[in-house]
Amino acid sequence: MTDPRGPLERLLDTGQEPPPELVDVNTEEVSIARVYDYCLGGKDNFAVDRAACAAMMEVVPETPLLAQANRCFLRQAVTYLVAEAGIRQIVDIGSGLPTAGNVHEVAQEIAPETRVLYVDNDPIVLAHGRALLANETTTTVINADLRHPDMIFEHPEAERLIDATEPFAVLLGGILMHLEDEEDPEGVAASIRDRLPSGGYLLVSNTCDTGEARAQELGRVFAESGMGTRCFRTWDEQIRYFDGLELIEPGLVPNNRWRPGDDVPDPQNPAHAMHIGGLARKA
Ligand SMILES: C[S@@+](CC[C@H](N)C(=O)[O-])C[C@H]1O[C@@H](n2cnc3c(N)ncnc32)[C@H](O)[C@@H]1O
Repeated sequence: MTDPRGPLERLLDTGQEPPPELVDVNTEEVSIARVYDYCLGGKDNFAVDRAACAAMMEVVPETPLLAQANRCFLRQAVTYLVAEAGIRQIVDIGSGLPTAGNVHEVAQEIAPETRVLYVDNDPIVLAHGRALLANETTTTVINADLRHPDMIFEHPEAERLIDATEPFAVLLGGILMHLEDEEDPEGVAASIRDRLPSGGYLLVSNTCDTGEARAQELGRVFAESGMGTRCFRTWDEQIRYFDGLELIEPGLVPNNRWRPGDDVPDPQNPAHAMHIGGLARKA
C-alpha cells in the first residue's frame, strides 16, 4: 500500500526538529490551505484536513471539482494577464500551497521577467513557498493577512518586488469568501482597487450563492470543521468587488466558463455555478 502521507507529514512524524516556520504547525488543527491542497489532489495535508474535505463532500460531492475549476480559471486569467495584457507584476493574496501550475510558473513561462509576490496568512504556505522559491529572485512569499492590506503593500518584500507606479495585478482567488461580513470584504476589495495604478488588474473568485440549499449547508459544515468562514455570496454582491473597473470578457461567470481551456474537469456539470470568477482592469 502506498503511504498516503505527504513529505511534510512524514517529516513531522519522524520527530525531527522541523524548520523554524513549521514549529507552530498544529497537525490536529484543520487548515484551509491544506484542505484545498487535498481537493486538488496534493499530498501536503493531514488526516484532520482530509476529514474536513470528506464532511464537505457529503453535502456537495463536487467540492474537489470546484477547487480544480478555480485553478483552471486562475491559470487562464494569468495567461491572459501576461500574454495579452502585458502585465509583468502579480500579487497573489491567499495563494495557497504550491500546486501544479503555480502562478509564477504560468506567468514566467510566457515572460520570464514577471515578478510574483505570494501572500498567505497560513505559516505552512510560507514554509513551503520558501523551500520552493529558495533560488528565486523574481518570486517570493510573505506571511500576511488580507484584512490588513497596508501590511501587505508596505512589506519590504512587496516594496522590493512590486513597482507600485507601474501596472500590476492583484489576485484574490478563493479568499474574500473567507472574510465575514463584519470584516468588510467590499471595503477590503475597495482598498486594493485604490492601490492599483491605471492599467492594473483585479482578479476575484469565490463560492457563489445560487439559491441552492446545499450551498448554505456547506458553509455551515465548513465553519463546524474549524476553518472559519466560507461565505456563499450572490453574484449581485460579488460584482461590487469590481466597482469602477472594466470587466474583461466574459465578465463574472462560473469558473468553467471563463475562457476555458481543455483542462476544465467535467465542464458541463451544473455544480460549476457554485464558484464564480472575474478579472477587471482599472482605466
Ligand atoms: C481556497 S485557497 C485559494 C488558493 C488560491 N488563491 C486559488 O485560488 O487557487 C484560500 C487561501 O487563502 C488563505 N487565506 C484565508 N484567509 C486569509 C487571509 N485573511 N489573509 C491571507 N490569506 C488567507 C488560506 O490560507 C488559503 O491558502
